[in-house]
Amino acid sequence: MANVTVIGAQWGDEGKGKIVDWLSERADVVARFQGGHNAGHTLVVGDKVYKLSLLPSGIVRGTLSVIGNGVVLDPWHFRDEVAKLKGQGVDITPDNLQIAETCPLILPFHRDLDGLREDASGAGKIGTTRRGIGPAYEDKVGRRAIRVCDLAHLDDLGPQLDRLTAHHDALRAGFNEAPIDRDRLMAELREIASFILPFVKPVWLTLNKAKAEGKRILFEGAQGTLLDIDHGTYPFVTSSNTVAGTAASGTGLGPSAAGFVLGIVKAYTTRVGSGPFPTELEDATGQRLGERGHEFGTVTGRKRRCGWFDAVLVRQSVAVSGVTGIALTKLDVLDGFDTLKICTGYRIGDQTYDYLPAHAQDQAKAEPIYEDIEGWQDTTAGARSWAELPAQAIKYIRRIEELIGCPVTLVSTSPEREDTILVRDPFAD
Ligand code: GDP
Ligand code: IMO
Ligand code: MG
Repeated sequence: MANVTVIGAQWGDEGKGKIVDWLSERADVVARFQGGHNAGHTLVVGDKVYKLSLLPSGIVRGTLSVIGNGVVLDPWHFRDEVAKLKGQGVDITPDNLQIAETCPLILPFHRDLDGLREDASGAGKIGTTRRGIGPAYEDKVGRRAIRVCDLAHLDDLGPQLDRLTAHHDALRAGFNEAPIDRDRLMAELREIASFILPFVKPVWLTLNKAKAEGKRILFEGAQGTLLDIDHGTYPFVTSSNTVAGTAASGTGLGPSAAGFVLGIVKAYTTRVGSGPFPTELEDATGQRLGERGHEFGTVTGRKRRCGWFDAVLVRQSVAVSGVTGIALTKLDVLDGFDTLKICTGYRIGDQTYDYLPAHAQDQAKAEPIYEDIEGWQDTTAGARSWAELPAQAIKYIRRIEELIGCPVTLVSTSPEREDTILVRDPFAD
């Protein structure tokens, strides 16, 4: 198994960026395969903090980075993010960054629609990042999208644009919004095309060649399994498949390419946006987790909801993504608690469940069944070896492994790149 697929096993923000950055030292290629700039991946290297939304985290080390066909790409955001990272001293050229020709574009009216719908939804709002992700994926499956490769054929765009604008103008009319200004859109596309096109390559070919040469590919998932369009807490989800299986379809490699599936798991639970969250703590303990963990969204700055570790959800994620091992992150945030709680099941009405039922109403009513586990007073912050961990912290990790039925491969003990404990090298499997 030369490759590693990193996915979030909760509701996103598990620390995928830190772990991908750490692993990318051993990788030859890093590939994003779904989502878009709704992601917010934070990397801390010495006194530098890098925040990436669209670019694969491998770019910070200069590792060949590719944006696969499964990603929806906002070309203006792409340009801004490249400029921002270059400003931080990161070298980015078409030699180390490639974009798949078949990525659908996120256009300004996708962003408008995302916001208009959220504003009109009242209490039912999803709490999206308002970046146009959902509307862009809708156009992809509706076979109306403008794709990256169209930027090289803008003069032939007429009929495609007719279909696309007819669809959106009808939606916009429903919100009392003016029709799309086609001339302006074409001018904007022409202007951005010259920046994007040098990066555009047949990424599936790059990756298949890398595979044939025995190179190590690291797939970087965005969001988390509980935000997956099929397996998540629908409708409070994102609009892509976030499970590990998407690494193949979202890049143009066969299903065996995923290799070692590394599920990133926070030592407690957070969620940003609306939707069910059985172990949520709306009290001082939740506040304490949020403060210690600095739980504010990278993309929107929103406060993340916090709660106890939910072993039921992670066990479910391990199953639907075929997780080989987990990286347990933010263990240090739990330092100093007298007692920790782990959710081992749910009570819904007079029934108990050892999985999260599919219906949103049942999910909303799920009451956690907890077991208590003694906390630890010593610090785990900055630990780089197993031997530095307090005995109770090790017990907590072991109990999590038992409950989720999956071994811990890495432990992360601070935002800093090197504060990571390697238990088993995922690339060595
Ligand atoms: P991602 O979306 O999964 O990449 O995660 P984010 O970057 O959105 O959120 C994780 C946050 O936790 C970031 O600010 C990281 O710098 C930080 N972080 C990652 N690992 C650890 C850790 O082990 N301990 C602490 N205290 N912070 C961490
Ligand atoms: P990373 O990769 C956490 C959430 C939004 C919202 C829902 C739908 O940093 O883990 P969207 O804009 O995708 O249509 O919003 O999904 N969401 C995330 N939550 N981390 C993310 O990415 C997220 N990307 C989207 O808050 O609830
Ligand atoms: Mg994030």
